[in-house]
Amino acid sequence: MTVRRSLSTGRRHGGGSGDAACPVTVLTGPAGARTEGGVASSAGAVPELARPDGAEPAGAAPELARLARAARRRDRRVYWRAHPFLFALLAATRGRPVRRIGRTVLVHDPDAYHEVLTRLPLDRTAPGTTGGAARSALGSKGPGDAGVLFDQEGGEHRAVRRGLARDLGTAGVEELRALWRPLLADRLEPLATGGAVDVVALARELSGTVVCALLDSPASPRAVAAAAAEVAAASVRSELPGPPRPGARAAVARATARLRQLLGDEGDDALSAMVAVAAVNTTVAALPRAAAWCADAALWEQAADDTLRRSLVGELLRVTAASPLLPRVAAADGAVGGCPVRAGDRLLLVARHAVGAHRADPDALHPAPAGVARLVFGAGPHTCPGAALARALLEDLLAALAPYRPAVVRAEVDRRAALPGWRTLTVRAGVLR
Ligand code: HEM
Repeated sequence: MTVRRSLSTGRRHGGGSGDAACPVTVLTGPAGARTEGGVASSAGAVPELARPDGAEPAGAAPELARLARAARRRDRRVYWRAHPFLFALLAATRGRPVRRIGRTVLVHDPDAYHEVLTRLPLDRTAPGTTGGAARSALGSKGPGDAGVLFDQEGGEHRAVRRGLARDLGTAGVEELRALWRPLLADRLEPLATGGAVDVVALARELSGTVVCALLDSPASPRAVAAAAAEVAAASVRSELPGPPRPGARAAVARATARLRQLLGDEGDDALSAMVAVAAVNTTVAALPRAAAWCADAALWEQAADDTLRRSLVGELLRVTAASPLLPRVAAADGAVGGCPVRAGDRLLLVARHAVGAHRADPDALHPAPAGVARLVFGAGPHTCPGAALARALLEDLLAALAPYRPAVVRAEVDRRAALPGWRTLTVRAGVLR
């Protein structure tokens, strides 16, 4: 794998420096104060209700609807327990496609969301945006620095993206698959003998393995994943609104230094650390949430089906919207969904609502249009370069889990993480075939 080399190739066009870290698309709202105990599930056997062709046995519809509601209820906990105020605000304002509150514009509608990311000039380094948070976490020295993708534009940004595209394209993903498939089989083995598996720990190891391979790092995948999670979490804490938190900046610097040391980063180039943070935090949020939804809604038949699995993956990534909120700032006057926008306005792009995650359950037989579902990965020149990798990883995880028809036996929300997700998600085999 060659991302490290590709990144430096891209850098030749720009030069400059950075330091490390990037919360991909962090929630910048206030952290919640509620505590989370273990969330025991209904556990036990998962009813076999869906047929491989997607048709339901007679009388199954109400039961499937009940399971779908249970899946949604559990998944909502990752928002309610970690970010209750922000979640409530977003839910309360989603009645209109675009809504202004002072200098903040909340964008819920898919077309308006797409319009912001593709047509409106954005200030990529403004405080409180993903790019601004990344720069600040990296200790950027100013406009002369090369930046960390999220805050870049123009030719330099395109050059770095070209390097990433080579490594995260079809051939690159296939190479990575050869690494993670044996790992998956090995870590899921306990399910065959009645044992339990923590899908979060597995997602951490998988994402760390991917990052180490991409960056040619001999570091321990688990250590890299833990360090990347800490960088994003510390960065979010330091960016929270309100009075500055003593020690928050120092905590970011420490976490960043630790990650870069693990990755063997040299000099000012912070791109490797940024890729690590982007890949680990989204993967660790997305995979366990998708697996839990699959288990709770009894979707294992579809997950086991080679023709339906890909569609199911797209739908699960849509409803879980791992990066649910993209904070941006307008760089020029314009309009979004008919709402006038002024330069300097804060834009909160609600990916979760834009893709209909709050209202339409995952449906592999009638998936949302691809143009809508893929908005969970952003849009335009900064659209996520890791989307194909994330889809392949989830596809393989579901295929590996499906034969065990696992049920969730324990789930705890991670209230410290940069993105809404589980801290632990323990599963055991359900109805075995
Ligand atoms: C379910 C998993 C993932 C989700 C939901 C996700 C989501 C996103 C989103 C919403 C953006 C911002 C796009 C925009 O501003 O238009 C983004 C950017 C990015 N993502 Fe992902 N991502 C995921 C996985 C990954 C993985 C696995 C990697 C790396 C291997 C990755 C690397 C990046 C990078 C480097 C950027 C910055 C791109 C740029 O600014 O040009 N992501 N991602």
